Amino acid sequence: MPETRFYLQCEGTLARRAYSLLDGAFEEDGLAISIFEVDEASDVHEVSVYALEDPANVKARMEEILAAVPGLPEISAEELPAVDWVAHSLKGLGAVRAGRFFVHGAHERGQHRPGEMPIEIEAGLAFGTGHHGTTSGCLEMIERVLKAERPRNALDLGTGSAVLAIAIAKLAHIPVLATDIDDVAIKVAHENVRLNKTARLVHTVAAPGFHHPTFRAWKPFDLIVANILARPLMRLAPTMAEHLAPSGSIILSGILDRQRRAVLAAYLAQGFRHVNTLHREGWVTLHLKH
Ligand SMILES: C[S@@+](CC[C@H](N)C(=O)[O-])C[C@H]1O[C@@H](n2cnc3c(N)ncnc32)[C@H](O)[C@@H]1O
Repeated sequence: MPETRFYLQCEGTLARRAYSLLDGAFEEDGLAISIFEVDEASDVHEVSVYALEDPANVKARMEEILAAVPGLPEISAEELPAVDWVAHSLKGLGAVRAGRFFVHGAHERGQHRPGEMPIEIEAGLAFGTGHHGTTSGCLEMIERVLKAERPRNALDLGTGSAVLAIAIAKLAHIPVLATDIDDVAIKVAHENVRLNKTARLVHTVAAPGFHHPTFRAWKPFDLIVANILARPLMRLAPTMAEHLAPSGSIILSGILDRQRRAVLAAYLAQGFRHVNTLHREGWVTLHLKH
């Protein structure tokens, strides 16, 4: 069934207010709602509501709810491609090799080389096919860290397609908590986790940042991977420190080359030390330790 995405773009404070009103109002309906930063420099955020059924009614309710927030732009709409279309586009992209990981779609199943670790990802509506420099940087860094360390558990914050959580589970055979602010991403993540036979190890949960009771049961983490953007990463630095075990490792990405210093400074201030940086296609991936 096609899905309609209703969305609007505006500055951060307005967007967060709109997100929180929509989230509260649509909670009972089980509609997926997301917010993400479109452009960090100009603080533009996008808030989306995904409607599988009765889009006209969803839009009317959104307009009613958002009337309480003056200054918001008109709501735009787009019909989302069916999953088949996404699978087709993934086919056009081809498989990706990052370290010893071979990230591929169903059409490339079985095409990995000896010694490679295959991860099958049907992208669906979530980020993380391995094609982006941040994902491939994280995959390479995960391999490096797991060569040197034996974590007992891990967190993949902002899991998207769950590609990184699956990589950790397959390589280290440890429990991984995979979280995302976006309910749609979590659905895709869960399907990919099952597809890769890692459901015994990877637990998927929808949560913004560290806001979910499940974190209390899991912490501290020996390894945290977070491929989100520079600003949220900087904001999360103190909470990351709180959730990381002594001598634990943290892998951060979603950071542009020019943002590296600022993100590093935020983490050094929390007592982290820098171990290594990987540069991929204008993006950096950092490895830090407590
Ligand atoms: C760049 S994608 C990374 C996906 C995947 N981990 C990868 O490396 O390819 C970032 C993901 O983080 C999620 N995200 C952004 N901010 C978040 C937050 N504060 N808490 C949890 N998830 C967040 C987004 O919804 C998105 O799925």
